Parts: sequence; C-alpha cells; structure tokens
Amino acid sequence: MSLLLNSSFTGASSACLLQRERSRRRRLHVPGVTCRQGSNGDRSDAARQQQSPPLLDRRDMLLGLGGLYGVTAGPKVLAAPIMPPDLSKCYPATAPALDNKCCPPYDPGETISEYSFPATPLRVRRPAHIVKDDQEYMDKYKEAVRRMKNLPADHPWNYYQQANIHCQYCNYAYHQQNTDDVPIQVHFSWIFLPWHRYYLHFYERILGKLIDDDTFTIPFWNWDTKDGMTFPAIFQDAASPLYDPRRDQRHVKDGKILDLKYAYTENTASDSEIIRENLCFIQKTFKHSLSLAELFMGDPVRAGEKEIQEANGQMEVIHNAAHMWVGEPDGYKENMGDFSTAARDSVFFCHHCNVDRMWDIYRNLRGNRVEFEDNDWLDSTFLFHDENEQLVKVKASQMLDCLNPTKLRYTFEQVPLPWLGKINCQKTAETKSKATTELSLTRVNEFGTTAQALDASNPLRVIVARPKKNRKKKEKQEKVEVIQIKDIKVTTNETARFDVYVAVPYGDLAGPDYGEFAGSYVRLAHRMKGSDGTEEQGPKKKGKLKLGITPLLEDIDAEDADKLVVTLVLRTGSVTVGGVSINLLQTDSTAAI
Ligand code: C2O
Repeated sequence: MSLLLNSSFTGASSACLLQRERSRRRRLHVPGVTCRQGSNGDRSDAARQQQSPPLLDRRDMLLGLGGLYGVTAGPKVLAAPIMPPDLSKCYPATAPALDNKCCPPYDPGETISEYSFPATPLRVRRPAHIVKDDQEYMDKYKEAVRRMKNLPADHPWNYYQQANIHCQYCNYAYHQQNTDDVPIQVHFSWIFLPWHRYYLHFYERILGKLIDDDTFTIPFWNWDTKDGMTFPAIFQDAASPLYDPRRDQRHVKDGKILDLKYAYTENTASDSEIIRENLCFIQKTFKHSLSLAELFMGDPVRAGEKEIQEANGQMEVIHNAAHMWVGEPDGYKENMGDFSTAARDSVFFCHHCNVDRMWDIYRNLRGNRVEFEDNDWLDSTFLFHDENEQLVKVKASQMLDCLNPTKLRYTFEQVPLPWLGKINCQKTAETKSKATTELSLTRVNEFGTTAQALDASNPLRVIVARPKKNRKKKEKQEKVEVIQIKDIKVTTNETARFDVYVAVPYGDLAGPDYGEFAGSYVRLAHRMKGSDGTEEQGPKKKGKLKLGITPLLEDIDAEDADKLVVTLVLRTGSVTVGGVSINLLQTDSTAAI
C-alpha cells in the first residue's frame, strides 16, 4: 500500500520509473511497447509498424472470415481498428430528446491533419470541491464556458456543437468507414476510455484557448472521496454559465450523497453507509480488475463487427450510475441521464475528468503497462477539432507516452485515495437485512440452457461450478477467475441495472444471504424515435458482463468451494440473461492491491 501512496502514484509522471512487466502477448502479434528511459518516449506508429508484420486491409477479410478475424494468417495479421467516419455522411441520430438531430455542419473542403502534440505547460487538473474556493480560477472557468456558449451556432467550438459530438458517436449518427450500416459507438467497449480522454483533452484546450490560458484545466468531480461525493457546488449557481436546470433537483441540492449503485430509486441508507458502499464499490472495481484490463475498460470492438455484444468494463458501469443520478428522473432523463444530451451539462466534463483520472490511477497501479497490446485497440482512430480549429486525427496509441509526464500535457493533483485504504467492505447492509428475513436454506439450480428473465421481486440464484479450486498463488497470477454472464438482453428504451453477488453454497443449498457484492451491469436508456415521430420500443440489445472474483473469493474464504452461488438482483429495467459461468482467463498483469 505504501508504494501506492508515494509521490509516483497519482500522476502519469511515473511512466518510466516502473519497469513494465513482460508482456505475454496473448493477443495479436504486437511488439511490446517499450518504455525505455532515454528514448524519446514516443511509441510512434513508424516505430511500431517497422516491427510489425504487414497488415492486411481488414475489410476485405472480415466478410470472408466471419468471426475469425484476430486469428493470424501466416506472417500477416488482420487488423481491424475502429476508424473515424466519413464525415460527409451523417445520419439522423437515435436521439428523440434532440429531435434526432445532432449532425454538425459539414464543410467538404475541410482537411484532416495529423494532431501535433501540444508543447504547452503541464496542466494540473484539480478537484471541483477545492477549486470552488479559488475565485480567480472560477472566474476563468465561467468566462471560458460563457465564450463557448456565445460562439456562432455553427462554429465547431460552440458549446452545443461540442456537446453534439457525444451524441454523434453514441447515438449512431456516424457509421464506420466502408460499412453501410455499422454505426460507431464509443461506449460498451475498450474504446470508451480513450475516446473520452481525447474528447476531454480537446474540450479543455479549446476552453483554455478561448480565455488565452494554456494552463487551463477542467476540474474533476472527486466522487471517490467523501468531500467530493456530493454534486459539485460550482455547477449549481443558477446565474452561472455552468448551470443546467435539467438535473434531478433532489440530488444536486443540499449535500445529497451520490449513490454509485443508483437505479432510479432513492437509497434510504445513512450518508455514512452510502459513502462506505461507494468507496467499497470503487475499491472492488480496482481490486477485481487489476489483473486483466478488459475487466476495467471493456471488451474489444473491431471495425465492421455488427453483432457484437456490448461489454462495459466496471469503470464504465460506475460512471453510468453518476450519469443517471444527475439527469432528470423522468422523460428523456436529460441532460446527463441520456447520452445524446449528456454533454450539454458542463458537469459531464467534470465527471469524465474523474473517470479519466481513475484510468490514470489504474494504469499507475499496474506499473504503467499498456492495457491492450493489440493493434486494434492501439490504432483505434478518432477525429476531433483541436484548439486551432483544425480537424485532427488521433489514435489511442498516441496518448501512451513513457518519458514525459504525459504527452497530452496534463496531470491530476494528488489527493487522498480513501478507497485504497482499509475499509470494511464485506457484508453489505442490503444482504444483512435479507439475512434476518429469510432464515432457511434454499435449493438452487444450475442455470441450464434456456435464457432466463430477471425478476425484481425474486432474484435469480444459480449454482455455478468453478473450473478449479484451491489454486496456488502462481496459478492465480496467471489466470483470473471470472464470472461471465452472456446474452444479456435489455429493452434499450429503458434503463437496466442488475447487481451480482457471490456466496459459498452449503452442498447444493444456498444460505439466506446473497453473499458478497461482485459488480454490476448498468445500461442507460437508449431511446429511438421512429420516422412518424413517435417513440419506438427499443430493440433488444445483447450484452455481456465479466467480473473478476479471484480476490473476492480470498476475502470470503471460498478457495476450497467446488461451486458458488451467484445471485443476480434486478434493480431496474427488463433484462433476460442467457447464461452464467465461471471461467479462468489469462491475466495481463500481476499487479494487486
Ligand atoms: Cu460517453 Cu459519460 O459518457
């Protein structure tokens, strides 16, 4: 723990201080990312391509290979990173709150440049509850947003144009290049964190440019600490350009504590209990996902994949709850509660600033190793307008820099991380109260082969065999035990959430309580309006969920259990689940907290 709390910890500045773990390179043939001191630290494409086998153009291959791309063919590697859209084709979005309109003005003469990384001073992002008392900073922040709001409506920096970017990439206004009907979606996968990092980066630089301050930063909503767990007051002054009336007024006022397990019902626990639950949720998220990046960041998404199952990492899940908690509780749940409108509320960027910080901490806790050594992640490419009004192209790999504190020239102020400390996270209040009302052991079955609908009044409890018990330390470092829930179907015009608990059975019988909280599935509503203007019933979308449980099983002394009772508690929405299994997945890090 002490290592984690030293000065190398909260910023990206420790980049090269920690020796990167040797990669197991279990995915595509990607040369290891080197992090040598003394190099220019730039993982340039040129350097990487030199060592890479030649890439085939994937689109040719995708059709032929069905689901098999990713498999190597001789010395060649099939690459399918997500590419930016053809901007000349912007479609009506699935955004009824915006009347399905969020396309930007299109300028056919506009050229796309490579982004040159800023040679500006290192910007230090600070907590929203602390900058509140920095009058000079607050004046600048408000002035910058005011100027952004006052720009001509069709200016790419205009406040609402900037907000629309989020709608375009979340509500299917753009399709992937060379595909007629595969939309770009920046949620539910491993591009969630990098895309939002760039979005924030350019937004911050544009705001700074508008007030001619190259040190300007967006503050972070420090919801991972007690003092930051209420709605940030800086957004609550009705006379300020940071204000947004479209919020759940019950939550944003009067020091109400954010509930990271929010599902549109008020948590009646005491403030201190909600704070503890939030800190535990964050702690577990890190603890359970440190050994495998996709558990934290989400699963791969590759170009042209149509029938892909949405797969959030747990960081995205936590982040969704804050969206829901801030937005209006009814109607289209504007602004924050619906992706099409979320970025119209300035708190969106403050919230994402903390999400970005969580990723930075995650990276540091893992010795700064690259999360995915897979070209389809590294070469994911996005387009943004930069602070010089240039349309620029950026790749996920470009933000990885080992030598400079950070290539994007920002870092985060170090603040305490209470969730890294000792907290009593076992036995939640909700499972405890359950224990007093149900006293008997119940028989639970295996999941079987038919899909099952979750029922809010009757949690689904299944007994699941473990692939192996009593694993040795070395085995645990090599493989992480993961609960996998597949074929999760939700009605997309409703929010959906279920929480997952794990307990040790007594033979084939389950005890009265659900056991330990392992993680959640959360999906915001994604509404659609039909051509006749009425709202359509959203289609059923499929998703999957993976939750690491190796450390959890140690905590509850379940090492020698052959089977586990897995309980799915539906919190909101209509959800059907296609299967629950426990598997061992290859880890990509031995980091632990
Ligand atoms: Cu693109 Cu917080 O979402």
